[in-house]
Amino acid sequence: MPPLFPERASTMAARVDALYFFLLAIGIFFSLLIAGLIVFYAIKYRRRSPEAVGAAIHGGLWLEIGWSVGPLLITMVIFVWGASVFFAMSTPPAETLNIYVVGKQWMWKFQHLDGQREINELHVPVGRAVKLIMTSEDVIHDVFVPAFRIKADVLPGRYTTEWFEATKPGRYHLFCAEYCGTRHSGMIGEVVVMEPSEYQVWLSGGAPEGSLASAGEKLFQDLACVTCHRPDSQGRGPLLQGLFGKTVALANGATVAADESYIRESILNPGAKITAGFQPIMPTFQGLVSEEQLLALVEYIKSLKPQPEVSTK
Ligand code: CUA
Repeated sequence: MPPLFPERASTMAARVDALYFFLLAIGIFFSLLIAGLIVFYAIKYRRRSPEAVGAAIHGGLWLEIGWSVGPLLITMVIFVWGASVFFAMSTPPAETLNIYVVGKQWMWKFQHLDGQREINELHVPVGRAVKLIMTSEDVIHDVFVPAFRIKADVLPGRYTTEWFEATKPGRYHLFCAEYCGTRHSGMIGEVVVMEPSEYQVWLSGGAPEGSLASAGEKLFQDLACVTCHRPDSQGRGPLLQGLFGKTVALANGATVAADESYIRESILNPGAKITAGFQPIMPTFQGLVSEEQLLALVEYIKSLKPQPEVSTK
């Protein structure tokens, strides 16, 4: 017989299961109670003679209050508990190991910051919070790792995230949990959780092409981004050093947080959010760069630290 529950292999698993068991217990308790009462009263108040007429009942105040307030309290407990688990799942810790995920019909591509790339297999260290920054090349997919109790949609045209901290080494199933076409059921993979020392060894093997940020830097040169986004603030485009994580003032008076999605959008659709003080002269790179190249560019821009002030006499 297959096990009823997948293994618990993340810090979130026990919390998700506790809530699930609570819901299950409430469901079972009320199902049995109601079914039992139906049978009990059906027998107790059965018609005993053909002429019998039931007594007319005109409501009961305390009964009404009881079955309104009782379920309200129970659902509020479910709501608060569920919300707290949801917030914990959707708020990654400040320090995470970031890994990019690109889904496409029908495979998963994983890109580590040190340059390693994998397909349908994801190596991560145990005991470290990992954040997946995910996008799709075509339709909606969904990364589901039952042993970690995490599941999140992967959408074309934007980044979504999910995070986990694996608690024991091993190999865990990864499924696509959003119907995405003929081979949806084959869009599966494995998360390989390793001891930190083994993970370091794994990381150092291969990846001769260098880090993701360095691949992005090369693209940045090849696409001639550097001619306008110059590091000396004299360029025709905004300075990118120190941009990531800042709040950017836009030409229309609004502001935007410079996160991965903003950078991606600004490469593909530069006219969407014009930085205050600049002209909308940047061409679009839609169709010229793949999702994976975009990730490299985003990572390169993230790596650009603010430069020390240089006097310009
Ligand atoms: Cu990808 Cu279902």
